[in-house]
Amino acid sequence: MNTYIRNYSKNELIEDTGRISWTSPSNIALIKYWGKYGHQLPCNTSISFTLNESKTTMDFSWSSKDTPSDEIVLDFYFENKKNQLFEDKIRAFLEKNRELFPMLKFLNLEIESTNSFPHSAGIASSASSMSALALGLCSIENQAFDLDICEADLIQKATYVARLASGSASRSVFPEVASWGENTLTSIKSSDELAAPVEGVHEVFRTYRDSIVIVDGGEKAVSSRAGHALMEAHPYRELRFKRANELVETLYNILKSGDTKSFCDLVETEALELHGLMMNSSPSFILMRPNTLAVIEKIREFRKESGLDLCFTLDAGPNVHILYPQSIEEEVQKFLSSEIKPLAQNGLIIHDRVGQGPERFL
Ligand code: PMV
Repeated sequence: MNTYIRNYSKNELIEDTGRISWTSPSNIALIKYWGKYGHQLPCNTSISFTLNESKTTMDFSWSSKDTPSDEIVLDFYFENKKNQLFEDKIRAFLEKNRELFPMLKFLNLEIESTNSFPHSAGIASSASSMSALALGLCSIENQAFDLDICEADLIQKATYVARLASGSASRSVFPEVASWGENTLTSIKSSDELAAPVEGVHEVFRTYRDSIVIVDGGEKAVSSRAGHALMEAHPYRELRFKRANELVETLYNILKSGDTKSFCDLVETEALELHGLMMNSSPSFILMRPNTLAVIEKIREFRKESGLDLCFTLDAGPNVHILYPQSIEEEVQKFLSSEIKPLAQNGLIIHDRVGQGPERFL
């Protein structure tokens, strides 16, 4: 067990009641995590941009239980309404991982959660919500009990806990660019258990914009859990994990050098590879919609004509993330309004950018 996971008793409780609040962003993977082993550990290293606008805010309050008990007392509200489904999921997660938080014996918890992005946008909220949850729980523990865990250890525990809740959430606790997974590169300090910030990234990538074209805001056709399971018996399994780890090295060199052209090539290839893996899984899935391809073709045409370095990436769904540096924002915005908006569901494009990571308010 990690050293920042502490054991403590009710005697160390110094705040009987209290409130705290965290906002935590979503992230978009450039090299994708797709396939896991053991206790939520990744089969390859992934790298992502932390976003700025697409985020979850969680308000937490706690009070001391009259009598310590093993029962997890939790009330969960989503967008101002009691949400039994989410509450049950979080309770099940806490029950499974109760050794991480001895405080659950002594405290009643209430959580209110809201997302900055619309429900129907089809944006995966697990990264933002599970990182916010992890940060909140770690902060409550530190504040309510006399633990004196330093900021760096708190963040480490948060990335560890977030990972157990949703792998990609482990990267959301860090600003700008984060990695998760073991790697031989000395600048990639993440492990399979803990994500870490990627250092030495060129200024141009720290200004990147991500315009998310909502092609279809419906439910995901394949859940992450089912998606990762598809890699277990995938015919290209070993090749994929080896290649993804090599791509991490190539991407890291690009991120350091500021080479936005090579970035376009690598990021697009990787996005299509994720979808290719799904297409030849058993069962097979095609997660792109006709307008996903139409948007991709428009991006490639516009890039060729204009010489501007914008590119796309995809999550495990039909929506298209258009990535570009701030310096070409004006030209790209014009292109988006005239060529891309008509292809988006209800004309919805969410303008996001690389952000500074979670923030604590209370
Ligand atoms: O964190 P999960 O289990 O929802 O998996 C995320 C998978 C992808 O979004 C497709 C890729 C990634 O690395 O974020």
